[in-house]
Amino acid sequence: MRQATVYIDSSALQYNLNRVKQLAPSAKIVSMVKANAYGHGVKDCLAALKESDAFGVACLQEALEIRQLGYQQPITLIEGVFSVDEMPVVIEQNIEIVVHHQQQLDWLLAYKEAYNAKKLKVWVKLNSGMNRLGFKLEHIKDVIHRLKAEGFNCILAMHFANADADHPLNDEQIRQFLEVKNDCAPLMGSCCNSAAIYKYPELHFDFVRPGIMLYGASPFADKTIHNLDLKPVMTFTAEIIALNSIKAGESVGYGSTLTADQDMDLAIVSIGYGDGYPRAFPQQNYVAINGQTTRVIGRVAMDMIAIEVTSLNVDLGTEVELWGQTRLVDDVAEANGTIGYELLCRLTNRPRRKVL
Ligand SMILES: Cc1ncc(COP(=O)(O)O)c(C=O)c1O
Repeated sequence: MRQATVYIDSSALQYNLNRVKQLAPSAKIVSMVKANAYGHGVKDCLAALKESDAFGVACLQEALEIRQLGYQQPITLIEGVFSVDEMPVVIEQNIEIVVHHQQQLDWLLAYKEAYNAKKLKVWVKLNSGMNRLGFKLEHIKDVIHRLKAEGFNCILAMHFANADADHPLNDEQIRQFLEVKNDCAPLMGSCCNSAAIYKYPELHFDFVRPGIMLYGASPFADKTIHNLDLKPVMTFTAEIIALNSIKAGESVGYGSTLTADQDMDLAIVSIGYGDGYPRAFPQQNYVAINGQTTRVIGRVAMDMIAIEVTSLNVDLGTEVELWGQTRLVDDVAEANGTIGYELLCRLTNRPRRKVL
């Protein structure tokens, strides 16, 4: 049987959730489990994250899956509802919504009694310069005053465009957020994703919304998970299915992109882009065997890669770590010109999954 495997370490998830608790002790934690828990498998992750105060997802279908799995915590739809017919379902299932534009506000007001009867909170989104979703500064205070007058329990919500970097927009976003929060006081607030949880302890307010840090990948380009005291949750492995040697001047794989400058021992590993292992690698990529890193050689194919094993102690069936403990997903992402988030989310369902 093909042995490509995604291991999910529940204790690492719990460790990372505890890191959020340490960093933001007075805020409630909305664990972001959208996109199948960032590709980790929502069912297994919910079990490990059950101490969260709430969950955050991108759409109703994701929220209903959480309810079907039996979890009763509050759930926030971070983009709100996509059509008015979702409103009765949301209310029936005790799901909280973001409102980020006028049409959603009208839909919410049309369901005012039922929504408020369930004491559901409304997350009112400020567009402070990211310019994706939200009401602009000059409009949002009226929206909040109106909602409060209609009896809604509001939370001011905002998302940073550059929480992972020192960017001049950060100060402007914070200025706008604080202005709205003060002018509409009393008003609950939430603006911190993983990077902002680390970077802005003074902005944790009522709810923090950690995503990537729960899964043990770094939100910062210049900080590793070791710097941040996080543990990798996913370990992605495959096995050696053939051993080969090539002589200087020979090449391996499609396109014959690498010509060996000296004799080389190769192992063929049963993993490829059909599993979600990235193909591009503008920079040299590596895998790990027993804690030791070694080069990927030539092109990644749909089902196979070649790695160098000269002077390594390997055999058929030896397990190769594509990312996980030794070879961090963030490093694989960097070599591929992307971010850990993308590699984690875009795994296919071909590798088998095992929860530890
Ligand atoms: C509104 C919102 N909050 C929080 C998060 C979590 O972000 P991160 O995974 O960087 O912690 C996201 C993720 O995209 C988001 O869209």
